[in-house]
Amino acid sequence: MKPQDEKSTGLKKDELDANLEAGEIEVTRGTRSLVIVPIISARALSRANTGGERAFAAERSDNARMEEAIGLAAAIELDIIGSQLVRLNTIKPGTLFGSGKVEEIAARVEGEDIELVVVDHALTPIQQRNLERDWKCKVIDRTGLILEIFGERAQTREGRLQVELAHLTWQKSRLVRSWTHLERQRGGLGFVGGPGETQIEADRRIIQDRISRVRGMLEQVQRTRALHRKQRKKVPHPVIAFVGYTNAGKSTLFNRLTNSEVFAKDLLFATLDPTLRRLKLPHGREVILSDTVGFVSDLPHNLVAAFRATLEEVIGADIILHVRDISHEDTKAQAADVDDTLQLLGLKVSESDRVIEVWNKIDRLEDGYREKLLGDNRPDEGPIALSAMSGEGLEALLERIETRLAEKLDAVRLLLPLEAGAELAWLYQHCEVLERLDGEEGITMQVRVPDSLREPVRQRFGKFFIEGETLSSSTRSANDEDAPDIGGYSPI
Ligand code: GTP
Repeated sequence: MKPQDEKSTGLKKDELDANLEAGEIEVTRGTRSLVIVPIISARALSRANTGGERAFAAERSDNARMEEAIGLAAAIELDIIGSQLVRLNTIKPGTLFGSGKVEEIAARVEGEDIELVVVDHALTPIQQRNLERDWKCKVIDRTGLILEIFGERAQTREGRLQVELAHLTWQKSRLVRSWTHLERQRGGLGFVGGPGETQIEADRRIIQDRISRVRGMLEQVQRTRALHRKQRKKVPHPVIAFVGYTNAGKSTLFNRLTNSEVFAKDLLFATLDPTLRRLKLPHGREVILSDTVGFVSDLPHNLVAAFRATLEEVIGADIILHVRDISHEDTKAQAADVDDTLQLLGLKVSESDRVIEVWNKIDRLEDGYREKLLGDNRPDEGPIALSAMSGEGLEALLERIETRLAEKLDAVRLLLPLEAGAELAWLYQHCEVLERLDGEEGITMQVRVPDSLREPVRQRFGKFFIEGETLSSSTRSANDEDAPDIGGYSPI
């Protein structure tokens, strides 16, 4: 686990050390690792009654699962010595794998000097402990690995706190093993249990205390952001958010659109904190683009919950680009995962007209199919096929965004007196001026008014509206707390 500096969490040094120790395993770059992907038969899964896992296993090809598991391990730059698919017809409660397989892997671990085994599946704490004992090396499961990745990628204070909260919540749910290190820490930290308090109760209390503190700090950060939100309301630019399965190409598309150098690498979860950039569309309207964390299947719900605040802001955006790797053999299952997560975060199906599906990586498709998809691009509906890499299809996306925004925003015609310089400046600053005609009796203008500014514009400029002109009511309330936040992140 990447050490978190004191500044990032506000915890004291010794508390942080305890925290790190509580992180269970220390995974560092270059650790010699073996990746094991258990392929569990549908029958074994139904017997074990793990609902989510069943769908995951059923819809994905073995190869794609292996590729993704290796991609996850590579995301924290482990040295991957080997990988192995293991088919399981039954699940052993104590070790997940049968004893023959456990021994076979133990021999491989010893023979190849493996320091860490990544098991691409959820392990119970007992399974993890038993496997560590049998294989004489560290063992990490899928959730643990994802948490490690999140820990490495989080850059803002809020991102770090969210990761820490997710990590602590996960640890709390796993408190069945012996936590001797916490016991050691307890003396030093003055956490003295009352008489009769059991080890697990005490450990749980320590973790709960930390959870409360991290929550408190997180709330503080989010409060500060709410203040920014107020200021940000003065910025009328619509927000366009990117979502998508990890590695779908969000950052590449983001860079292509903004010519910026957001960290785009073939690493899963290269992006964790939202990054914001301003973009000018071909017809001059400015928008804010927001790149966010990639989604992945099988994310534990409490982990999604830890990122809820950030993700909720994303789904409050004016337009959501769902970027899909259409060349991936599991593209459908990945899209379903993203849709599920969006729904979990509260995106209503009825609002799904805010979502534009982007079918990325078409350069990897056969020529004929690629041409067909490009030919199918429409300005008003359907998915937009493109390649963030080659740039093909990009104009169609920009056109769609402009069309969608135009539908969302309302236009009005007004006649300003010649001396109304301040009003004129305000309109230029906050609205989109579609047309301007300077005449002797005044300035005739047609302006497009953002959703959030309809009421102020009506109040301030109503008297200048040309007869018969109206501005329909905003679909958002004046105190719109759900609006996407662009405060606190710069660099816009
Ligand atoms: P996360 O941060 O993990 O969520 O990933 P992401 O969705 O931001 O993906 P990213 O932009 O980092 O791209 C992942 C990989 O796909 C990189 O190796 C990109 O070069 C590659 N890639 C992105 N777009 C395209 C494309 O249009 N065509 C091809 N061939 N590769 C692409």
